[in-house]
Amino acid sequence: MMQRWSRKKSHFPLAVFVLLVFITCSILYNETSIKQIHEHPDHLPRKPQTTVTYIEPNLVTHSTRVPEVLDRFVRCNVTKDYSGKKIQWVDRKPKLGQRSESLESCDVFSGKWVFDNKSCPLYNESDCPYMSDQLACHKHGRSDLGYQYWRWQPHNCNLKRWNVTEMWEKLRGKRLMFVGDSLNRGQWISMVCLLQSVIPADKRSMSPNAPLTIFRAEEYDATVEFLWAPLLVDSNSDDPVNHRLNERIIRPDSVLKHSSKWEHADILVFNTYLWWRQGPVKLLWSNEENGVCEELDGLGAMELAMESWADWVASKANSLEKRVFFVTMSPTHLWSREWKPGNEGNCYNEKFPIDWEGYWGSGSDLPTMRMVERVLSRLGSTVSVLNITQLSEYRKDGHPSIYRKFWETLSPDQLSNPMTYSDCIHWCLPGVPDVWNELLFHFL
Ligand SMILES: *[C@@H]1O[C@H](CO)[C@@H](O)[C@H](O)[C@H]1NC(C)=O
Ligand SMILES: *[C@@H]1O[C@H](CO)[C@@H](O)[C@H](O)[C@H]1NC(C)=O
Ligand SMILES: *[C@@H]1O[C@H](CO)[C@@H](O)[C@H](O)[C@H]1NC(C)=O
Ligand SMILES: *[C@@H]1O[C@H](CO)[C@@H](O)[C@H](O)[C@H]1NC(C)=O
Ligand SMILES: *[C@@H]1O[C@H](CO)[C@@H](O)[C@H](O)[C@H]1NC(C)=O
Ligand SMILES: *[C@@H]1O[C@H](CO)[C@@H](O)[C@H](O)[C@H]1NC(C)=O
Repeated sequence: MMQRWSRKKSHFPLAVFVLLVFITCSILYNETSIKQIHEHPDHLPRKPQTTVTYIEPNLVTHSTRVPEVLDRFVRCNVTKDYSGKKIQWVDRKPKLGQRSESLESCDVFSGKWVFDNKSCPLYNESDCPYMSDQLACHKHGRSDLGYQYWRWQPHNCNLKRWNVTEMWEKLRGKRLMFVGDSLNRGQWISMVCLLQSVIPADKRSMSPNAPLTIFRAEEYDATVEFLWAPLLVDSNSDDPVNHRLNERIIRPDSVLKHSSKWEHADILVFNTYLWWRQGPVKLLWSNEENGVCEELDGLGAMELAMESWADWVASKANSLEKRVFFVTMSPTHLWSREWKPGNEGNCYNEKFPIDWEGYWGSGSDLPTMRMVERVLSRLGSTVSVLNITQLSEYRKDGHPSIYRKFWETLSPDQLSNPMTYSDCIHWCLPGVPDVWNELLFHFL
């Protein structure tokens, strides 16, 4: 095009003008479409709102009518577009003094993985009686054990050395509770494995799998618990076993079902992310009496949920006796082309961390991170952030891939092509979640 136009010298300015307009338009067009993809991953346009209705989340203190609890059988009678209602949560001035970590100058989340088979792993897979078959990669046939030997080394300081006795002393007389999805459950199992070895077998116990599962250590009068609440707010996916449903229905303005279980914990570790990445979510507000749902994209719905959760934290966890942590998104490694351009695989057969400082894959959604940051920063020192995203991004080698127990029967087609059923979402143990817990220990 340029060649043809530049031969006709007299038309040159017009040609340049046309070309510039074309380029500008196409850039703008591309930017809008990219923006749409990022902000509205489900391609659900949000209606422009003139007046916004604010809903106060349901806390025990100011709820007038207790709404029906959602379970997995709940259905929407009708589904409408999102009405634009937002969550109103009030900043309550923190009664807290400065937390110790805010005095620290070093960013322990920025660093690199160092091969260190002397100090890692912190426990052996087969020595932990509470290990999950989804995470026991060695037991399920993984023979390259390099993933167990990487230590996280912050750039400008050292992480506090894991000391199991010291950790138990911190937990004495307390309840430590992890609340969230299966990634958070993995971190809980890691914590139990890290802690259990020094407790004699007859002085510890594990309750059966339930929404709330409890590991107890008698002599410390302490528990390490896990509460299944993948979306934090009340939802139809809160059954710890039967939660593979076609649609997600949430109460965007209520954490009541879960907070009744978590409110007496002393140390709370929350996460939520991947469950919001599976398409649109249906909202069933607490004051809705006719089963009318509204549909909203995952990011929008997650923001409502985070704000309802934040309202609980701001009003109920605002004391020095309670510690609240939020674990940021756990990265996935579903497309190897992102770290190995031209390659068409996933995390299967990956044996080494990514050696590319600042690597960020498409599995860690930036608009979600910005939203989470906004909500957490309004909570100030009431919540401590475990920002595990960047450090876990490097660990493409840390996932179970095919080396775990799969609940569904695998077809011959799948078995002949392991890539197709690799789990590149969860993490082998011992492994990456142990480091998340070392970071928790560091800040406790
Ligand atoms: C717009 O995007 C398309 C592919 O999506 C690409 O081929 C084209 O070069 C882009 N144009 C500009 C001006 O960025
Ligand atoms: C640790 O790694 C080094 C280097 O790969 C190897 O020579 C050594 O045998 C390993 N030690 C243990 C205990 O695995
Ligand atoms: C793991 O097992 C090996 C061999 O059985 C042993 O040498 C090592 O000390 C164990 N590591 C831990 C952390 O218990
Ligand atoms: C671990 O912590 C306990 C109790 O705080 C302390 O007595 C012990 O010396 C520590 N161990 C190491 C190896 O630092
Ligand atoms: C759905 O509508 C029917 C009929 O109007 C009503 O009886 C039922 O209670 C509604 N369901 C919910 C969950 O409100
Ligand atoms: C976590 O760290 C990344 C950089 O690694 C940063 O972009 C992000 O904003 C941080 N998130 C939060 C919630 O602080």
